[in-house]
Amino acid sequence: MMQDPQKKYRPFAPVALIDRSWPDRAVTAPPVWLSTDLRDGNQALLEPMDGVRKQTFFDLLCRIGFKEIEVGFPSASQTEFDFIRHLITAGCVPADVTISALTPARPELIRRTVEALRGARRAIVHVYVAISPVFRSLVLNRTRADMVEMAVQATRAIRAAIADPGGTEWVLQYSPETFSGAELDFSQEICDAVVDAWEPEAREKVIINLPATVEMSTPNVFADQVEWMHRNLRRRSNITLSVHPHNDRGTAVAAAELAMAAGAERIEGCLFGHGERTGNVDLVTLALNLYTQGVHPQLDLSRIDEIARAVEHCTRLPVAPRHPYAGDLVFTAFSGSHQDAIKKGFAAHRSGAFWDVPYLPIDPADVGRSYDAVIRLNGQSGKGGVSYILERDHGFVLPRRLQIELSRLVKMCTDASGGEMKSADLWALFCATYLATGDLKCVHHELYDVQGGQGARLSLEVRGRRIDVTGTGNGPLDAAMAALGVPVRLVHYEEHALGRESGAEAVAYVELEWMEGGAPLFGVGVSSNIVTASYVALMRGLDRLAAARGGRWHVDGRGRLQSGKDAAATVS
Ligand code: KIV
Ligand code: ZN
Repeated sequence: MMQDPQKKYRPFAPVALIDRSWPDRAVTAPPVWLSTDLRDGNQALLEPMDGVRKQTFFDLLCRIGFKEIEVGFPSASQTEFDFIRHLITAGCVPADVTISALTPARPELIRRTVEALRGARRAIVHVYVAISPVFRSLVLNRTRADMVEMAVQATRAIRAAIADPGGTEWVLQYSPETFSGAELDFSQEICDAVVDAWEPEAREKVIINLPATVEMSTPNVFADQVEWMHRNLRRRSNITLSVHPHNDRGTAVAAAELAMAAGAERIEGCLFGHGERTGNVDLVTLALNLYTQGVHPQLDLSRIDEIARAVEHCTRLPVAPRHPYAGDLVFTAFSGSHQDAIKKGFAAHRSGAFWDVPYLPIDPADVGRSYDAVIRLNGQSGKGGVSYILERDHGFVLPRRLQIELSRLVKMCTDASGGEMKSADLWALFCATYLATGDLKCVHHELYDVQGGQGARLSLEVRGRRIDVTGTGNGPLDAAMAALGVPVRLVHYEEHALGRESGAEAVAYVELEWMEGGAPLFGVGVSSNIVTASYVALMRGLDRLAAARGGRWHVDGRGRLQSGKDAAATVS
């Protein structure tokens, strides 16, 4: 790169529009959408679509709800011509859909284009003439007057070609190609000349389509250009003002949005931003941006994955994983703090209320995505994500410190593997760590009343050896701790039903620590009986405490429960 790029590149000149109104306008209605996937999109594919794929794409566009579809460039290729003829003669065009075809400004090509479109209920003949100074001087070697004359002659040629309308409602569309790099007064002059040459009837509309053939400026400058045209075009009431933004600077969506505020009523673009170079404006993003402002785009994108897969099939190009609204990863949070906020957002959201879930600008369900992908686990994840998945997929509502404990284990695993931990792997880790049976088993228990408290009689199996122990305390767990007689303190206890049915199982969480200190650890138990669940959790917690010191439980010579490093030698 150059140290002094100003020697090679000039800043784009601002538009002299002092009292611009677009900054204060909000868009409250959708534009007329035109999909140019089958023309601009298709001409930029590595492998242009064959007739079958074009038909699939056309049907998809109709299902989504496009009412204007540019179906090809019939004068440039026989395949395109035949495809359009097939659409019309086979009756593939729904009654409320208008098809459009692009033509250069040459009479014989115009006639061919009109031939291709004949028989459609309504058809747009879309003619273009490039107008920017660099095109006039360098590419075409023509003056401004030459270009106006060319556009006017083309308009008359279209009028002549449709002299016999043959039952078709014909619409003229003119695009001053390279508008984004042209002088505004010249853009106005040529567009006015075209509309005049067409001589529209009182209520008839000509589509004047302003292309950012190459996106050259910031979106606010494009909006100024559009507002300038909107204000200065002479027969404005006979014009549908359209824009056709390309995405060379990566800001086509913003340019189109500001252009709508500036007076554009119609937008041409492609699904997922296909099209020449960096593509045409992405109609999916534009439409869903409107939707998230409470404006229905009148396009049905409620099955976004299906649409993305169909477009990938037709274009042979992938939709990027981070593509707005449609990418595989766009509703996924890996980071712990994001997961935590999303989890709280989901918990607080009530059906029928405004959508206010942090980090999710749209409810994934509105575009047919499940919540499964919203929280995924990797080395960046934290307790929010881990607990969210266990609750969502298995109904376990973990106590806060258990969330922290488990998320540390998850982090160790994901750091070691360097990858993602799926829900099934998390469940396997949780079961192996907290639910699996270890050295201690409570095979039977009985509770009995004692004055001012609770008595518990437990039959334990400790690595094959049975002992019976008895104790009293404030409640069943306290009594069991007393019966076991081990130097362990109960730090925390929680329980809840697993599921909503009356016969649902219960889960108990028991947090224990050695009396002499050390990190507390959890055990978890599940049973249809809540006391059994808590005793199972207690046994599992004790096993984990012993293991944390590198030891195991055994029964000593006096029939008492002991833990020790040299456990194997002392097992009787
Ligand atoms: O990008 C462009 O200028 C075009 C025109 C033909 C509308 O595709
Ligand atoms: Zn284009």
